[in-house]
Amino acid sequence: MRAKVLLTRAWPEEVEAELARKVDLTRNEHDRPMTQAELRGALGVYDAILPTVTDRLDAAVFDRAEIRTRFLGNYGVGVSHIDLAAAAAKGIAVTNTPDVLSDCTADLAMTLILMTARRAGEGERELRAGLWAGWRPTHLVGTKVTGATLGIIGFGRIGQALAARAHRGFGMKILVQNRSAVAPQVLAEVGAAQVGTVEELLATSDFVSLHCPGGAANRHLIDAGRIAAMRPGAILVNTARGEVVDEEALAGALMAGAIGGAGLDVYDGEPQVRPALLAAPNTVLLPHLGSATSATRAAMGRRVIANLTAFLAGRQPGDLIGARA
Ligand code: DGY
Repeated sequence: MRAKVLLTRAWPEEVEAELARKVDLTRNEHDRPMTQAELRGALGVYDAILPTVTDRLDAAVFDRAEIRTRFLGNYGVGVSHIDLAAAAAKGIAVTNTPDVLSDCTADLAMTLILMTARRAGEGERELRAGLWAGWRPTHLVGTKVTGATLGIIGFGRIGQALAARAHRGFGMKILVQNRSAVAPQVLAEVGAAQVGTVEELLATSDFVSLHCPGGAANRHLIDAGRIAAMRPGAILVNTARGEVVDEEALAGALMAGAIGGAGLDVYDGEPQVRPALLAAPNTVLLPHLGSATSATRAAMGRRVIANLTAFLAGRQPGDLIGARA
């Protein structure tokens, strides 16, 4: 008998078709985020559920007597929307999709660095509004990226991919803050130095890019105090998770001109975006596009299928996540 599998959001056509050939597939026909009640109900019906970042699987969702689901194959690398301890307590395996999205997410972080530094969003809005008065030496003057110092918080695969781009492509000096020690050869490849604390990194970085996991442990890692500790004119980039930054404090610092700008791809409570951020100057705001290329979105689907196939065959999936990940 084929496994009963729920796909919570529509995937790119070719990978969804590949999945449908392998399992008894139920799709979320309306392609909208599932409610907690729907997810809780689904745990009693399906052998496997394939969620995304828009499905909040917190402890209450797992709190039911009869659970049929044994496998959660997340389409995406970040899993802070899943209560891993609650899933583990119910004997449910969780996998994610690392590696395949590192390049594209790093590309988007670099896009935000460049757009924010060079005021590209403001410039485009001005031109489209018919307000461009022509070239002049003082028009939309931004910040030079080449040779500046980039501080990277969280030096996993995406942080490393960004460091490679910034160092080799833009001659940037790289500082790294990471919860564990990074191997010297990994740092040496991108001319990076690891610092001990976030504060040390903030004190010397012209750009700060976040690449740590989200979730309760890193909620407001970048709080009002740390935003105040950034250099005047420094730019904050977030392609990790919205909750890592205190967005009210960030908007306040941008309004006050205390920092130079912010480039954001993720938001606390997205798709809602705080009005204070929308009103803040020198801000580039993108709608969670980090992994959004056709090649990567297809590769993410294939990675979920590989994990699911291994699990259903009784093998250990390549991207199995432990309850403490
Ligand atoms: C990821 O892969 O974590 C993306 O942010 C989408 O969830």
